[in-house]
Amino acid sequence: MPDYHAVVWTRRIEGPLKMGDLLVTPQETRFSYTDDFLALGSDDLLGAAGLSLLSSPRLYGRNPVVFPAREGMPLHPRLLALIPGEGRRNIQRQIYTRLLERQPNAPAPGFDMDWALLLLTGYNGIGHLDVFRDDRAALAAYAQAQPTLPTPGNRSPGNRSRFWNAIRDDVALDVTLMDAEAIAELLGPTPSAGGMIPKLLVAIPDAHSDSGTWDGSFARPGTRTVNGKPFVDVVLKIEPMEYQGVAELEALCLQLHREAGFVVPRSWRATLDGLELLAVERFDRDANGFPLPMETFYSVFATGNRRFTTNQDTDLAEVGRWLEKLGSVVNLDVRAVQREFYRRLCFAVCTGNGDLHLQNVAFLGGPGNVTIAPVFDPAPMRAWPRHDVRFAVPLDFDDSVGGLHENLIALGTAYGLTRAQAQETLQQSLDQTRDYAQRVEALATVPAERRERLIGVVRKERAVLENAKETTAMMKDNQARSPR
Ligand SMILES: Nc1ncnc2c1ncn2[C@@H]1O[C@H](COP(=O)(O)OP(=O)(O)O)[C@@H](O)[C@H]1O
Ligand SMILES: [Mg+2]
Repeated sequence: MPDYHAVVWTRRIEGPLKMGDLLVTPQETRFSYTDDFLALGSDDLLGAAGLSLLSSPRLYGRNPVVFPAREGMPLHPRLLALIPGEGRRNIQRQIYTRLLERQPNAPAPGFDMDWALLLLTGYNGIGHLDVFRDDRAALAAYAQAQPTLPTPGNRSPGNRSRFWNAIRDDVALDVTLMDAEAIAELLGPTPSAGGMIPKLLVAIPDAHSDSGTWDGSFARPGTRTVNGKPFVDVVLKIEPMEYQGVAELEALCLQLHREAGFVVPRSWRATLDGLELLAVERFDRDANGFPLPMETFYSVFATGNRRFTTNQDTDLAEVGRWLEKLGSVVNLDVRAVQREFYRRLCFAVCTGNGDLHLQNVAFLGGPGNVTIAPVFDPAPMRAWPRHDVRFAVPLDFDDSVGGLHENLIALGTAYGLTRAQAQETLQQSLDQTRDYAQRVEALATVPAERRERLIGVVRKERAVLENAKETTAMMKDNQARSPR
């Protein structure tokens, strides 16, 4: 394989700034910061957020960041996250692979194609990194005025339904039918976001409410207004056939987290041309539309640990201790992040979300000031047999400690909690999800079989947790009463 060159830029309030030069060989990723970027200095906390939390200008300065390639990670993990996912469900991969294949010098399947996809769609994606072939391409992209009109939402209804029909063919995996040009033409080379559910990054009219419905009109990501109406950037998730009901279930779980006081992005539902959609406000953009650094736990873990390639290469207690260590190289309120993640885990158990893996939790901000990103993707995937596991990252279960209840409490201590605090967090989660089963039961688009399965799972977990609690209380009570 040849060497691959690219440049990384970022969009800042005072204008676009080149961050560094990138060289990728079969052996490694090398990245060097520009003098201009290093000149930002550490006073400028967000500005100093470079390639990745553990590959920051603070840690590397003029030395190149070097990431040795390994199985499944041919590229620095933070950059890998910008390439449209391998999954057959990734809309951007489907569309742009088809378009690139038709070019005279079509990239070869494999890394060559991945690289071409990165250069085509690596701009305006999740987080603050923009990847381009060279500086000229960067300047050309930034010079393009933000498109306001015409936008797909404003075009003739004929065009709009051609767009949604194309998306529907894609979501149905009917690639032979898919009208790739219809999507490409209307959206341009849009960036992608990882994950399993097909999604688009777009802007929709700002409904100014926490949740509710939306009329289905949209524009390119970054669009601030259309005809004077404010627009907001969202991750638009499109329900695929084999996960029928997931949009409504995820919307419910977002709402449940909101009610319990978690920080949760606004979200809106729509049913359009037979597609079930869920739009979630992007939290990696500030109020003026400028990007905030964002990186999943997975990416940070993979950068810092050579052995790590999947969520199975660690366990939940190690994640807790690892957060502690991270606190010594970045400015992070370790206790707050540990408490928050532990609480999300308890909620995941109570809502049948077996999918709280390290790509479903992220850091927001740069090394000068970083925190845990708001809740995203809390979908209760245990409704599907294929995903019916209690924890996506293993819990090192110790029988001598006791059952699920005792092991969960013990886990709390790896997150800096006392047993009493862990117990209280778990109890709160149980209380705040008390009517969850009833609310699942009431969801119209979720097939009965999925609802029954999920409710069954959740009731069983509650029974295990609540019985164990009673047993512990009874034992304590007996001990207290027995004569000394
Ligand atoms: N509201 C959001 N703002 C910014 N980035 C987001 C948001 N929601 C999701 N993401 C990013 O997009 C990726 C995929 O989204 P996710 O909701 O996890 O989709 P899936 O259900 O397909 O796993 C996440 O890993 C995260 O990096
Ligand atoms: Mg996800």
